[in-house]
This record gives sequence, C-alpha cells and structure tokens, in this order.
Amino acid sequence: MKALMCHAYGPIDNLKVEDVPSPQPGPDQVLITVKAAALNFPDALVVQGLYQHKPTFPFSPGGEVAGVIKALGANVTGFSVGDRVLASIGTGGFAEECLASTLRLMPLADGMDFELGAAFTLTYGTSLHALQRCAQLKAGETLLVLGAAGGVGLAAIEIGKALGARVIAAASTDEKLALCRSVGADETVNYTTEDLRKRVDALTGDKGADVTYDPVGGKYAEAGLRATAWRGRFLVVGFAAGEIPKIPLNLALLKERFIIGVHWGEAVRRDRSEFTTDMKLLHEWFAAGRIKPVISERLDLAQAVDAIKRIANRQVMGKVVVLPRG
Ligand SMILES: NC(=O)c1ccc[n+]([C@@H]2O[C@H](COP(=O)([O-])OP(=O)(O)OC[C@H]3O[C@@H](n4cnc5c(N)ncnc54)[C@H](OP(=O)(O)O)[C@@H]3O)[C@@H](O)[C@H]2O)c1
Repeated sequence: MKALMCHAYGPIDNLKVEDVPSPQPGPDQVLITVKAAALNFPDALVVQGLYQHKPTFPFSPGGEVAGVIKALGANVTGFSVGDRVLASIGTGGFAEECLASTLRLMPLADGMDFELGAAFTLTYGTSLHALQRCAQLKAGETLLVLGAAGGVGLAAIEIGKALGARVIAAASTDEKLALCRSVGADETVNYTTEDLRKRVDALTGDKGADVTYDPVGGKYAEAGLRATAWRGRFLVVGFAAGEIPKIPLNLALLKERFIIGVHWGEAVRRDRSEFTTDMKLLHEWFAAGRIKPVISERLDLAQAVDAIKRIANRQVMGKVVVLPRG
C-alpha cells in the first residue's frame, strides 16, 4: 500500500510517498481502508519532533480518518469487516490503510460522507471538551475564539453557538473572518489590524469575554487573557504561533480569572465514556445541521506534503482532507 512516510524528525519536505507493507492489527485494533484523512496542526509538529507524542519510526502523519474496516484484531467485538467508520488515531492516517484502536473508533453516521467523517472527531471533540467540560460555557455568555478560522477554532465557533453563547471570532485576515461569520460568529476582530482587548471591551460593554478559547498562544495569549472578564475562563488549547507564552500571573489575580489547560487526547484516554457521550451529542448536532466541518481542500497523498507546510505557515482555512487513493 502507499503511505506518506516519515523516517526521522526534520523538514516537512523530507516526507515521501512510499510503498510499504499493510499494517497488521493488534488484538484490540482494526485495519481500515482509508477513504479520507484530515489534516490538523499537530501533523506538522509530529514530523518535526515538536509534538508531545513521539511515535516510533517510520510512521505516517495523519491523526484522523474515515474508511471501511478491512480486518479485525482477535479481541475486537461490536465491529465487522465492511463497516464504515471514523477514527481518531494520532498518526498513520496519510496512507491507503491504517490501524485504529477501538477506543476512538465509531460507526460513520447516516448522512456523513467519508470526507466529513475524517474531519469530524479531533476538532469537535477538542472544542466540545474545552467549552463544555473545562469552561462550562453557558447560554447567554460571551465566547472569544482566537485562531477562529482554523480547525479547532471553527469548531469552537459552531459549538459556542450550539451551547447558546454569543461568539466573537478573532483571526488574522478579513477572508478568515468572513469564513468565521459564515459558520455563525456574531462579531469579529482582525487581531493584526485591531487591538484585541480594546475591540472585545467595546463589544462587551467593557466586561470582557466570559470564556476565551486560545489555540494560538504567542503574543495573542496575553491579549486574550486581558480581554477575559472578571472570573472569566481562559482555555489554553494550543500554541500554533510557535511560542509558549509566559503570562504575568497578576492578570489571573486582578480579575479572579481561571486559566484552564485543555488536553483532549489525554482526557478521553483516561475516561472513554466522555468520548462516547461527547460524540453522541456531536452527531446529534451534525444531524440537526448545527455543526458541519468546512472542507476547504481535497488533496492526494503527494499533495499532503505541501498542505502540511502550509498549515505550519498559517495558510490553511478550515479543514484540508487527504484522499489516499486520489
Ligand atoms: N489541547 C488539545 O487537546 C488540542 C487538540 C487539538 C489541537 N490542539 C492544538 O490547537 C492548535 C490549533 O490546531 P488546528 O488544527 O486548529 O490548527 P489550524 O487549523 O492551523 O489553526 C490554527 C490557527 O492559529 C493561527 N496562527 C497564529 N499564528 C500562527 C502561526 N505562526 N502559524 C500557524 N498558525 C498560526 C492561525 O490563525 P490566524 O492566521 O487567524 O491567526 C491558524 O488558523 C494547535 O496548536 C494544536 O496542536 C490542541
């Protein structure tokens, strides 16, 4: 089978499409014929050795897929060969076949095609966990989303609206902000041309956002924390800007703000029931038309290298989907 392979940490350009043997499922795994795999920012980090998860070499990037089960491990129950499924797998998805643990494997919902299924789990899973469980976002509250036109950002906008919040989307270009409005953002801030804190103050009657969702880090984190209300919740989701910010803790003290770390993968590893419950709600929202991944590009395996470079350089909007068989 063909797979995009990483043999050592290094430049993204080192990734190559190769012919490799089909992987063999372990006792609690299934083998999936990949119909679609979605790109996420961690794919750019993991091949450069910059991600917390360090897979053994050689490996393929690609953290989430949708496809058809080709073979079952000895202990697997509840799934059959031929089932249409979606899976969150960490790595291995940019390939014609991949392995998935049954821990984060789900049947593909009615009305969800392979491309939407591939682009569903990680971004919505992370953002629902962050907003509902970590921040306890309530209807009527104001949610500020940074990096809002990215994968987890767009999901946070839609989930914020589904939970009844007023959503302020912040991003770096007007084109990205137009996309945010198209999925439901009530207000927008261009944080390359406007002062984030002043604009959020103006939009909230000087109160600030009740919840701030930050997958960007860098210089935007402190501005986002300053834009957070008295006893507001600031969610540390990621550091796409590359720099892990060092925040003056007086900003937490002055307004009794809560700074909350979000680690979805570890949270669902510790409690599988959370994954099942959250995916059920997300599928209900999908069926009701309240959430739907924005797929901006469809690429083959060789084109995925360029897309991984572009997501690392802030040049991707919404979700890129890789179709391993073209
Ligand atoms: N904590 C968790 O459980 C969890 C789960 C999934 C993902 N994450 C993390 O969340 C972050 C976002 O992931 P994603 O897949 O949504 O990424 P994405 O689609 O690339 O979105 C990230 C956004 O960050 C902004 N950004 C600002 N400076 C950037 C820079 N120098 N380079 C790249 N992007 C920059 C960009 O928006 P603007 O151009 O508008 O600023 C971009 O749209 C990543 O750090 C990822 O590791 C965390």
